[in-house]
Parts: sequence; C-alpha cells; structure tokens
Amino acid sequence: MSYESEYRQSIEQPEAFWQQQADQLDWFQAPTQIMSKDENGIDRWFADGVMNTCHMALDYHLEAGRGDQVAIYYDSPVTGSRAAISYRDLKDQVAIFAGGLKALGVTKGDRVLIYMPMIPQAVVAMLACARLGAIHSVVFGGFAAHELAVRIDDAQPKVLLSASCGIEIDRVIEYKPLVDKAIELAEHKPEACVIFQRPETEAQMQAGRDVDWDQLMTQSAPVDCTPVSATDPLYVLYTSGTTGRPKGVVRDNGGHAVAMKYSMKAIYDMDAGDVFWAASDVGWVVGHSYIVYGPLLAGLSTVLYEGKPVRTPDAGAFWRVVSDYNVKALFSAPTAFRAIKKEDPESKCLLQYDLSSLKTVFMAGERLDPPTYHWVKSVLDVPVVDHWWQTETGWAICGNLMGVDPKPAKAGSSTLPSPGFNVQILDDDGNPVGPNVQGNVAIKLPLPPSCLPTIWGNFPRFRDGYLSTFDGYYVSGDGGYIDEDGYVFIMGRTDDVINVAGHRLSTGEIEEVVADHRDVAECAVIGIHCELRGQVPIGLVLLKDGVTTDSDDLEAQLIASVREGVGAVACFRRTLVVSRLPKTRSGKILRKLLRQIADGQDYTVPSTIDDPSSLPEIAEAMAKAEIGAAAKVA
Ligand code: COA
Ligand code: AMP
Repeated sequence: MSYESEYRQSIEQPEAFWQQQADQLDWFQAPTQIMSKDENGIDRWFADGVMNTCHMALDYHLEAGRGDQVAIYYDSPVTGSRAAISYRDLKDQVAIFAGGLKALGVTKGDRVLIYMPMIPQAVVAMLACARLGAIHSVVFGGFAAHELAVRIDDAQPKVLLSASCGIEIDRVIEYKPLVDKAIELAEHKPEACVIFQRPETEAQMQAGRDVDWDQLMTQSAPVDCTPVSATDPLYVLYTSGTTGRPKGVVRDNGGHAVAMKYSMKAIYDMDAGDVFWAASDVGWVVGHSYIVYGPLLAGLSTVLYEGKPVRTPDAGAFWRVVSDYNVKALFSAPTAFRAIKKEDPESKCLLQYDLSSLKTVFMAGERLDPPTYHWVKSVLDVPVVDHWWQTETGWAICGNLMGVDPKPAKAGSSTLPSPGFNVQILDDDGNPVGPNVQGNVAIKLPLPPSCLPTIWGNFPRFRDGYLSTFDGYYVSGDGGYIDEDGYVFIMGRTDDVINVAGHRLSTGEIEEVVADHRDVAECAVIGIHCELRGQVPIGLVLLKDGVTTDSDDLEAQLIASVREGVGAVACFRRTLVVSRLPKTRSGKILRKLLRQIADGQDYTVPSTIDDPSSLPEIAEAMAKAEIGAAAKVA
C-alpha cells in the first residue's frame, strides 16, 4: 500500500478506513456507528462500541497465548534495579490493584489522580483505572504542590495514588510531603491516598486517609474488566494552555485504542513481540500513548526507563538500554540527543554496545532541529523520523509511515500528514496559503480517532480555544508551512506556550508566580532559545516604586518561588529588572517582540506600539546580562 492511497482513503472515506482499523481490536460489542455527532456537535468515533482498554491491552493477549511474553522491561539506573514483567504477571497485578481501588469505592467514571515516578506501579495504576472504567489523571512528578492542587480541584479525584519518592539522578525527591501540601491547598479532598513505599525513603502516612500500596494488594481480590462505551473517557491529561490554568484534555477509550493500535504498525512499524522504547515519562502524553497504551495494545514489550540520557551514569545510557533489551524503535525528544551530543560529541560511548536491533529513531516534543537530526543520523545510521503531535491528539499529526511506505526524510520537516489528519496552512483570515508560505497550522474537521472531544468540565474552552478561530478547522497553536512536495514544517508556537526540554509549559503559569512577589509591579515571562533545552523561560520584571531589593536577591527569590509554585521542571533561572515593558496602546505586552530581541532576530516594530524607545533599552539590558542570544547553556 502506498502512503498516498492510505492517506487518500482516510480523508475521502474516513468511516470505512477507521472501521477497518477498529476491526483489529477485541471489542465486547463491535461498533456499527463509526462516526456520529455528540450533544455538542463534535464528531465522535465508534459511539455504540462497547469495550475495555485494559482488556484489549492485557487480557486479550493472554487469551491469544502471549501471557509469557514480557510486557514491561523496567530499567532503573537510579536505583540499580531491573525487572521483566510478563503480560500474565502484569494482568494479575492490575486485576488485584483494580480490586483494591474498587474496595476503596472507585467505580466507573470516578477520577483517580496518579502522581508517581517511572516505576511499574505507575503503569499498574493506569491500567487498573482503565479496568474499572475509572478515569485516570496522571500528573508529571516534576510539578510542584500548587500545580498538583490545581489539577486535584479540576479533576476532583476520589482517590490519589502516589509513591514515597522519585529519584532524580542521585537525589531522592520526596513525593509525600508534596501530596500532603497539595491536598491541603486544594478545596477538593480525595477520600483516600494509596502510597507505594519505595526503599529509598519512607512516607509518613496519615491515619484514616492513607493506605499502603502493598497492604492493599495483599488484601484485595482480582476484578474483571468493566465494559465501557467507546466514548467514555479513559483519561484526562492536563496540558499547558496560554493562561495559568491547565487544560484537562479528555481522551476517549475507543478512538484512542484504535489510533494506538493503528499507529504502532503504520507509523512505528512495530509487530507483536517487538521491543519499543519511548524514553519519556508517564506524566506526559508520549508516556501515556507510547510507554503504556500503544505498545500494550499492540502486544509489544515496552521499556520503562527511570533514568536520564546522560549522567545515569553517562552519555551511553540510551545505547546500553537499546542493546540490553534489543529495542527495535527508540522514541525520545531532540533535547535528549542534544544532551548526549554535548557530553559525547564523537559518540565514543556508543562503541561499547551492539545496536543492531535498532531500526528507527523517532523524535517529538519539539522540532527536530537540522543539526541534531544530522548528528543522530550520522552516529546511528538508521532512519531518524521527526513527527509532530500534541497532547490534544494523542498521536502524530504528521510523520513518516515507516510501516506503510517510508518516504525520504527532509531535515527540519515532520514529513507528511498522518492518515486522518487533513492538515492545512491558513493565513490569519482563515484562507489557505500556497506552498512554502508560513501560516497557522490547522486541521480540517473531522479530527481522526483519539483526538480530544472536549476539555474536562469545560466544553466552551475547547470550542473557543480550538474550533472558533477558523470555521470548520481545529487550530493547533503551531505555525509552519507545507512545501511543494507536501512536507510539513512546524516552526513553533504562535501563542504563549513554550517548550522546555520537550516539556510543554505556559508562560502565563510562571508569570502568575512572578507577579505575586511583593516587589514586582509588572512582569512578562517569555521563552527564549536555549541550545540544550530548545527554549527556557526568563522573566522581565518591573519593580514597584521605592523598591530597593538587590536584583540578584530578587532573582534568587523569584527562582525559588517558581520552583515552589510550578516546579523545577520549568527551568526558570534568569530574571532581568527593566524600567519599561513594550506594550501596545491598549496595554498588551508585546511578548513576541521581546522574544525576537532576546533571540537576536530581526523584528518589525508594530504600529500599535505605545513607546518604541523601550526596545533598545531592553536589548541593551539583555546583552549586558548575557540573556538570550548572548546566554550560555546552563
Ligand atoms: N520529578 C522531580 N523533578 C524533576 C523531574 C521529576 N520527574 N523531572 C525533572 N525534574 C527536575 C530535575 O531534577 C531538574 O531539577 P534541578 O533544576 O534541581 O536540577 C529540573 O527538573 C529540570 O529537569 P530537566 O529539564 O530534566 O533537566 P536535567 O538537567 O535533569 O536533564 C535533559 C536535561 C535534556 C537530559 C532532560 O530534560 C531530558 O532527558 N529531556 C527529555 C525530555 C522528554 O523526554 N520529554 C518528553 C517528551 S517526548
Ligand atoms: P505536547 O502537548 O506536550 O505534546 O506539546 C505539543 C507541542 O509541542 C506542539 O504544539 C508543538 O509546539 C511542539 N511539538 C511537538 N512535537 C513537535 C515536532 N515534532 N516538531 C515541532 N514541534 C513539536
């Protein structure tokens, strides 16, 4: 099958195309209604299908004779431990843990918040929720208590699942105090917290609320899968928008399972029994889709890696894992490879390992910059595929169909639209533009299976944020162009979302914390270019009249506040005190202009600017402070 005919069928006959893909899964009741409208007028997939994602990911494989195959290779250089968990063992653990959750009162539709490090129990937790038809919401371990509290209040979980700690290289990060503080800050109080005690540190338990994970496992009886409708949510995953309030992206059970199964073969060229490694974290969408659900739905072995690309213990960490588990496809973020390249530019660490199992490297999370693309290609000598996607879609909007019809790569491009995604470039008035003209990257409706049908508890936010800008289109928030061969180039966000080491953050979230400081009158947080992390946030602050705080002290205080309020993962490490911020006459801060100045790019002074003389002043202050184009990699 050629890419062109596969893609054409998906766009011209979407229902026939996706029905064929749905037939590859083991439904309790196969869908007959392939695409229909819901009460909000949104296209929904497989509405009358009845299923359970955990059944499709685990029980089905046992029935198909795959019980002894490894489902999860857990590899943890930070604790020096490894485990190989078979499909049978995983199913048994999940069924018992689901029994434990049921005993705590969790039933279909209840939310369960998961705040866990990269340990097998995190996967057990997710699948146990799916087994009960409960909706999980995983929060990345690098987020601080306040961010956790915001998510607790939005998702209103009945139960919260966590562990005593995470481990960052050689530092033990205690999770339980963060959980306790988040619950204290939140208005909504979960009825119970189940805590997995790790040997590295013991969490203090609160009587009457906290439950020991192991004890719950020994006390509980396994339960079967609860049938759910294909349009029932499997999970809510919070992602950064342009404001300080994260958005709960809702993922359907049915469309998600179908897209995961389809993409594992079509995009990643993986067959049952192959080993797949997404070097990400279960707290991000990549972790949901390609550490947990995609590989398990397709009967693969997935690698769960609790470590970093460097310093655990060295820049050969990725190559060791590939070689130890015969990884066929590796998926990570460009920033991880930039970190390896920085420490081992001549890739000497690679020489110790046999990488013959590795067939393809996939990258996402941020644009794969051409220098990194060329470096990875030269050291590994396998196809390197950039593919573009978002938490909202759950799988690649653009990529290279390695399992259907691989196309030659073009550095800087995420290749061609995936089947089901009708990608268009629109100008600001919503008109399609020609080849090589930059504009807003939009997707013509209907969206294919797995894409969000709403924002949790807030349909107007979904409609207004994504569907109202251009009639009949989903607007991605990314800018880019399509070349004369149809290759898509994603060039970056058009809004105030930033991407720090492949982690999506909102400048608004950070701004709220900075603006809260007693000395700060006004501030703008912008994402500036960083050689290692792609982007990092910096804060430009205007002090209140009469404030005499030393700027170094202020910087230290603001850095500490952002770590406390958002999390270390924000990598907020620089601030600059300025006397004016460039604004439009209506008072809107011109953040894009600030970004361009910081990155040393040419810029046009907009006619709407109130006081253009603030610009050279800011450029000079940035240069003096070695911020932006003049900054060093830290
Ligand atoms: N729990 C607690 N803290 C965490 C954390 C977690 N799960 N993840 C990151 N942090 C902390 C780090 O310890 C670090 O803290 P520090 O400022 O005290 O040193 C801070 O957040 C920044 O983390 P990170 O950006 O990961 O920096 P790093 O120097 O440890 O590693 C890279 C740099 C590039 C190696 C790393 O970011 C990386 O591997 N990125 C790949 C990203 C990725 O997989 N993205 C998923 C999309 S595919
Ligand atoms: P997230 O929702 O965390 O996956 O982040 C999605 C955003 O990351 C996108 O909107 C893009 O801005 C960026 N992104 C992800 N993958 C790519 C890619 N391959 N090329 C360019 N940008 C990407």
